Amino acid sequence: MRIDVLTLFPQMFDSVMGSSILSRAVQNGLIEFHVHNIREYSDSKHKNTDDYPFGGGAGMVMMAQPIFDCMEAVFKEDATYAKRVLMSPRGRLLTQDIAGEYAKETRLVIVCGHYEGVDERVSVILDDEISIGDYVVTGGELPAMVLIDCVSRLIPGVLGSSESAKDESFTGGLLEYPQYTRPAQFRGLNVPEVLLNGNHAKISDWRRKQALLKTKKCRPDLLAKASLTAEDMLFLEQAEE
Ligand SMILES: C[S@@+](CC[C@H](N)C(=O)[O-])C[C@H]1O[C@@H](n2cnc3c(N)ncnc32)[C@H](O)[C@@H]1O
Repeated sequence: MRIDVLTLFPQMFDSVMGSSILSRAVQNGLIEFHVHNIREYSDSKHKNTDDYPFGGGAGMVMMAQPIFDCMEAVFKEDATYAKRVLMSPRGRLLTQDIAGEYAKETRLVIVCGHYEGVDERVSVILDDEISIGDYVVTGGELPAMVLIDCVSRLIPGVLGSSESAKDESFTGGLLEYPQYTRPAQFRGLNVPEVLLNGNHAKISDWRRKQALLKTKKCRPDLLAKASLTAEDMLFLEQAEE
């Protein structure tokens, strides 16, 4: 997948794209990452990228011109189709399902807003708006990194076989079961016996039940949409008693 990011703060992406799984995905050629500084495309003398909002009000608004020109330059560099998305608190709320939808794209162009947001006319060059949650952060850079990270780990080959996304929280609609690692005893806290006996059928059954209990306790709203078997439902009913 090719990912182009349009931002006023390109350096913010260095550490995230240069570390861990994302850096490995770039090195292995599974992700091609390009970051573009919107400021370089401003046609004003002082390279301004924002201005006062028409109608008054607090703060500054990112101007349409530098974003339009930056977008055009990105497609001059590579004309292949891309899904163009603005990071925005009013966008579709990012979920694992949406991440899966995005992971099927071959190219993403992500626009990061800043200040009070972007001139509304930018929407004519966009296909989607994504929010990372019902709260406001300073700029679209952190939300873009969240989107890039959760989408990338669903691209085949990005996670190693030992890091599969298949059992993770939200995949299949449930939260993940509790995980433990060595030592088996730590400060009087013991790892559940079932995980130590090597009986894979029992471990799998325990994990499913724990995932059901965790989801019921922490995110009961997810249970309504999860795909549950008759056995799962019976277990949850009995757990209530
Ligand atoms: C300070 S915010 C602007 C908030 C805007 N004035 C509002 O009330 O909706 C600046 C930029 O940060 C990004 N941003 C802030 N919160 C976000 C969220 N929850 N999800 C995605 N992007 C967000 C957007 O790109 C936004 O244009």
